[in-house]
Amino acid sequence: MRITAIEVLLFGAAAGVGDMPRGLISRQGSANATVDCPPIPSPFPTYQQLPVQSTLPDPFLPLKYTTTDNAAGSSSFAQDVMAGKGQHRVQTVEEWYKCRQPEILQVLQEYQYGYYPDHSQETVAATRSGNTVNIAVTAGGKTGKFKASVSLPSGASSTKPAPVVINIGGMQNAPYLSAGIAVVQFDYTTVAADSNSKTGAFWDIYKGRDIGVLTAWAWGFHRTLDGLNMTVPEIDSTKVGVTGCSRLGKGALAAGLFDTRITLTMPMSSGVQGLGPYRYHAMSGQDETLENSKSGAGWWSDSTLGKFVNHAENLPYDAHTIAAALAPRALVIDQGTGDQFTNSKATAIVVYPAAKLVYDWLGAGDNIAMSVRSGGHCDMSGYTAVLPYVQKILLGTPTTKNYNDLGSYGSPLTTTFPWATAVPKKAS
Ligand SMILES: *[C@@H]1O[C@H](CO)[C@@H](O)[C@H](O)[C@H]1NC(C)=O
Ligand SMILES: *[C@@H]1O[C@H](CO)[C@@H](O)[C@H](O)[C@H]1NC(C)=O
Repeated sequence: MRITAIEVLLFGAAAGVGDMPRGLISRQGSANATVDCPPIPSPFPTYQQLPVQSTLPDPFLPLKYTTTDNAAGSSSFAQDVMAGKGQHRVQTVEEWYKCRQPEILQVLQEYQYGYYPDHSQETVAATRSGNTVNIAVTAGGKTGKFKASVSLPSGASSTKPAPVVINIGGMQNAPYLSAGIAVVQFDYTTVAADSNSKTGAFWDIYKGRDIGVLTAWAWGFHRTLDGLNMTVPEIDSTKVGVTGCSRLGKGALAAGLFDTRITLTMPMSSGVQGLGPYRYHAMSGQDETLENSKSGAGWWSDSTLGKFVNHAENLPYDAHTIAAALAPRALVIDQGTGDQFTNSKATAIVVYPAAKLVYDWLGAGDNIAMSVRSGGHCDMSGYTAVLPYVQKILLGTPTTKNYNDLGSYGSPLTTTFPWATAVPKKAS
């Protein structure tokens, strides 16, 4: 059964994902009787119901058709799906934005992140004292508070507001400030501790929910942006980058994913649950996997992801799907070749090119960038490596640096995304 235009009208409120009730899908934009979205399976399939896909899942195939079709138990089905031969793939850019992108956001919340809180039920208050912004969020009678600190570039004013990069963890601020970009930081542990303790502003409101800490940190970025928009007129709240490194890079990626106000997502050395793949996990660095990330820091994700431990190849998505769901908004990925922890090589030659195919198909190919640099894990040099791209996106300053250069890693490993040879033709 396909959803009718009437149902699209009923469910298709132009809401951000934060406003999206569980189980419903927001189909953004005006209703278009020519686009039917396949329903999202409810309940979501378990890992046993999903095919084993040893290569990156086809981003163009709706979830329904990776499962119900598979019920026939045909052993060749998964091969066909992996090769882009699924019969019900998204065919047009319009279908991508209306059906598949919102579905991916649902899929990721279900299987990995937990459901992002309904922002329409929150009240945000902010006060500013010098360069400190105090943020208080109230929902359901509970309040969570934290603060952010602001560094403004010289010359920023309410008549000439500066773009901003919101950062958790350490960052090289000086070159950004010199480039005319504000840097704002908040202490992520005051939003959600990096542990199972469920302490911090987020949990003061949402304790008891099955939500990962990466999502809580994402929420911290968003509420910081709310506070900046309310109290810091020297910052242009429509030109916003989000960044962090390693686990905090995973959090920055979630921040980009769950709020379309984020102009540029900048995950640094982010690894598994960031832009390191679940599949192809041992190409460089320490072997970070679904299994060891879940056993080492199970709180990063919701509990559903734990059910895929030892079954990562049953996941109907991988890191490239997360990246593709950001399109057309900008993404710059930074990895060091000397990174001993994360799988820099696979991020560069597997995840990035697979996501770029989708960006290219959507006509947004310039909005995804890969920075392969020398140096190690969370090396501060990553921030200077991506700065020209950040300036291009946030300030409109052209750059000649080639962010499609995979450096010493060479070229894309196309055997990891066999569906690429069957990228749907564009209708227009
Ligand atoms: C509906 O979709 C068709 C085909 O993609 C497109 O040509 C048309 O402009 C769309 N109409 C609206 C109102 O979005
Ligand atoms: C900033 O606040 C105004 C007024 O509430 C709102 O209309 C606008 O969408 C906000 N901008 C951002 C980037 O949040």
